[in-house]
Amino acid sequence: MQIHSSIPELRNAVKQRGRIAFVPTMGNLHAGHLALMREARAHGDTVVASIFVNRLQFGPNDDFDRYPRTFQADCAQLEAAGVDLLFAPSETELYPEPQEYHVDPPGIQHQLDGAFRPGHFRGVATVVLKLFNIVQPQVALFGKKDYQQLMVLRNMTRQMALPIEVIGGETVRAEDGLALSSRNGYLSAGERAEAPRLHRLLLRISAAVASGERDFARLERGTAEELDRNGWKTDYVAVRRQSDLQVPQVPAEEALVVLAASRLGGARLIDNVEIPVTSGVDRPPLAATIRFPKLPNR
Ligand code: PAJ
Repeated sequence: MQIHSSIPELRNAVKQRGRIAFVPTMGNLHAGHLALMREARAHGDTVVASIFVNRLQFGPNDDFDRYPRTFQADCAQLEAAGVDLLFAPSETELYPEPQEYHVDPPGIQHQLDGAFRPGHFRGVATVVLKLFNIVQPQVALFGKKDYQQLMVLRNMTRQMALPIEVIGGETVRAEDGLALSSRNGYLSAGERAEAPRLHRLLLRISAAVASGERDFARLERGTAEELDRNGWKTDYVAVRRQSDLQVPQVPAEEALVVLAASRLGGARLIDNVEIPVTSGVDRPPLAATIRFPKLPNR
């Protein structure tokens, strides 16, 4: 695997390499990242990965400084996964002067995760456009684990007419259901044992909606309360349309997704579960095992 930290070197290295499939990351790689690398292999002649912890997408109270940096181990994993080229620029290489031009995504950037991380998606879209311009891939792969990020980047690519196919990879999970994430390393042993609750509860919402439940607000509230009763601090639990992440209008006979972000100890975990197209009518009542307590309105 070739490793390049300079923009001109990287540009040179991707010439005459056929179809480029690109997987941007912030490093501290795990099986979720590596699944994207393997999928990239199926879509291109040359697989390019990048590692860059992008300051622009972190808020002042976010974990930029303590974000895990494990460059040597990452290189070994990328090599083993058959990645051809790694672009790993320094901050001064990618931002030699303050980045004053930004990609400003539309309203969705202020919703869901964006409501709790102001400027986050602007920072993500800006660095990804910049990386796209440097690597000039034909295909780019992003994980569904970061569902809103995937949508923002897919829409940016389409609206800016970038000649790039954006592909979403399935979320890779630990055996107990916890979505793999670099931030899982912030969890203590006790918190790690608690963490799979998030995915379990999202699956429960998904099952309820698939069975015809259409009181989304009650499902969302019940789940947030249950998390918080178990030591979490929940930012949001939201049933949205897959197509645009807007609030579904009942009867909501379209593909939906339930997304959540909640803090457990020092880690802010996000997850989501896609809900296939279902009909809210003519469905059997909820299975007896899926029970949501009636909760008072907040
Ligand atoms: P990072 O968090 O390192 O993730 C890199 C890619 O791996 C993203 O597309 C993310 O969605 C995907 N990914 C992370 N965990 C995953 C899992 N458990 N299963 C499947 N895919 C997973 O996302 C970023 O970096 C940055 O925002 C970036 C796009 C690189 C821009 O800085």
